[in-house]
Amino acid sequence: MPKPLVSVRNVSKHFGEGEARVDALVDVSLDVMAGEVVGLKGPSGSGKTTLLNVIGCILEPSAGQLVLNDEVVFDRKWLTRDLRRMRLERIGFIFQAHNLLPFLSVVENVALVLRLAGQSEQAATARADELLTYLEVSHRRKAMPAQLSGGEAQRVAIARALANQPRVILADEPTAALDSERARIVMDLLRRVAVENEASIITVTHDEKIFSRFDRLVSLRDGRIDA
Ligand SMILES: Nc1ncnc2c1ncn2[C@@H]1O[C@H](COP(=O)(O)OP(=O)(O)OP(=O)(O)O)[C@@H](O)[C@H]1O
Ligand SMILES: [Mg+2]
Repeated sequence: MPKPLVSVRNVSKHFGEGEARVDALVDVSLDVMAGEVVGLKGPSGSGKTTLLNVIGCILEPSAGQLVLNDEVVFDRKWLTRDLRRMRLERIGFIFQAHNLLPFLSVVENVALVLRLAGQSEQAATARADELLTYLEVSHRRKAMPAQLSGGEAQRVAIARALANQPRVILADEPTAALDSERARIVMDLLRRVAVENEASIITVTHDEKIFSRFDRLVSLRDGRIDA
């Protein structure tokens, strides 16, 4: 039996207390296998971003368990000592607002995560260029983020998310700013990454045009998985 790469078990997350309490996730369980591309949908406020942030170890659950690649990362408390390093090495994030650093060029943005992980400048730049070529934006390597089109910026953000070859890739509406042709290209690319790197990909989307491109769609409603 293949084991899931991502295993969310009975996770709840609330913000605030008393009157102000919001139950953003209620007893959510989800397994994602290596090579699987899962879509996460649901109305605004249903908990999609919260769930990605929990899986990405950015947000501490209020209850439950999180297992990544056989390591119990959270079980009522964080069990992984160096969460920052784990995020850097094992998880790739792609945000809707692509979050490129505006004062660094395209190639510097991608190389930065490799430098943070301890690579030499030369090795980091070489790997960044390889990724930019793979994503067909290498001709823009010296451009600054403000000079890129939406689709170009999104591909650079994907290159950056893939730089450390993470097995878990989390994307929050990565195609929202793209036309349907570009959205399809991005989805095909994520699928290729899932297969080639045996990665698990979880993508929030509102875009019905790309629903058919996921192996599985998971629906959230009021913080619960909608069966
Ligand atoms: N840091 C926070 N503090 C308080 N409440 C929060 C916080 N983050 C999220 N929430 C609340 O938790 C609920 C789930 O939010 P979340 O961002 O996960 O929704 P979403 O499904 O991603 O929505 P959208 O489609 O609009 O992005 C919402 O009611 C939101 O207001
Ligand atoms: Mg959201």
